[in-house]
Amino acid sequence: MSVIRNIKVSAGKPYNVTVGKGLLPRVGSLLSQTVAPCHAAIITDSNVAPLYLAQTEESLRSAGYKVCSYVFPAGEKNKNLVTLSGILEFLAENRLTRQDCVFALGGGVTGDMAGFAAGCYLRGIRFVQLPTTLLAAVDSSVGGKTAVDLKAGKNLAGMFIQPSAVFCDTDCLSTLSDSLFSDGLAEAIKTGVLFDAELFAMCDNARENADISALIARCVQLKADIVKTDEFEKGPRKLLNLGHTPAHAIEKLSGYRISHGCAVATGTVMMARAAERLGFCTRPCAAEIGLMMISNGLPITTNFTPEKLAEAALGDKKRSGDEITLVLPEEIGRCTLEKFPVSELCEVFRAGMER
Ligand code: GLY
Repeated sequence: MSVIRNIKVSAGKPYNVTVGKGLLPRVGSLLSQTVAPCHAAIITDSNVAPLYLAQTEESLRSAGYKVCSYVFPAGEKNKNLVTLSGILEFLAENRLTRQDCVFALGGGVTGDMAGFAAGCYLRGIRFVQLPTTLLAAVDSSVGGKTAVDLKAGKNLAGMFIQPSAVFCDTDCLSTLSDSLFSDGLAEAIKTGVLFDAELFAMCDNARENADISALIARCVQLKADIVKTDEFEKGPRKLLNLGHTPAHAIEKLSGYRISHGCAVATGTVMMARAAERLGFCTRPCAAEIGLMMISNGLPITTNFTPEKLAEAALGDKKRSGDEITLVLPEEIGRCTLEKFPVSELCEVFRAGMER
């Protein structure tokens, strides 16, 4: 009998994250205690639909839900207002009401857009996250951040809205390509660098070596602890943005051809190097983090210049007036939030890029 793990997220609206094998074919019956059978709108993308849509529909229908499904073209480049508008029109055409529920079946792009649509539609209806990628499982499906990208940058329009439940069926991870699997590991390694040296060690060549269900549950528990103290990112939740300021710049400058996970890997190593050079480290860790990324097939350098990255990053939402808050590793398992004048961002990036 495989292990099923439950993690409670004590946000303003509490909910459970369930992690284990074989959950998707049972999601209807597992959920019916929390969200009673209603009209269910499944939102998914063109990669995930052929793999998991039919079994999700069947599971919900047999538990008494009425089901409609919307499939959008896969890819970060479609995480925009046009796709969001298509989802909202679909919910309206199918006459979902405030008693009904949206299901985000897929990776981070799907979760972000379906969650945002659920938050806007009728000023907010319930939604459930069904993550099918490792990145969504360890990070984006938990904590209630939803968004679309704007021309000026990534995730610039969005809201905090917590799901009613998250079901992470680890069987879905078996169909991930190595590169999609690695994308998720970048966020797991980031979480280890932030809070937990043991989790960091678990990530070593993780597709071969790790108990992935335990690794996901540990990431979710650490994220739940932060969300409990700072749901709306006024303080400590900003730590979860480790590596994300350079990462969002890399993604944007690449026209979203470089994946979020690859960009986070490079960005996290950059911030660790910068922390060492600027004197914030109590125990140097950039080389160790770099090796961990490489062991999982992730990149740790970029061809974009510090000037280009800083220019792109200054459209980023984490800027506040003339200051920007950056996350700097002190050692593996502990990081600090530091404010810098925006005029110094380029120099911080340069410090993170010199070898
Ligand atoms: N992905 C960072 C956060 O949820 O705050």
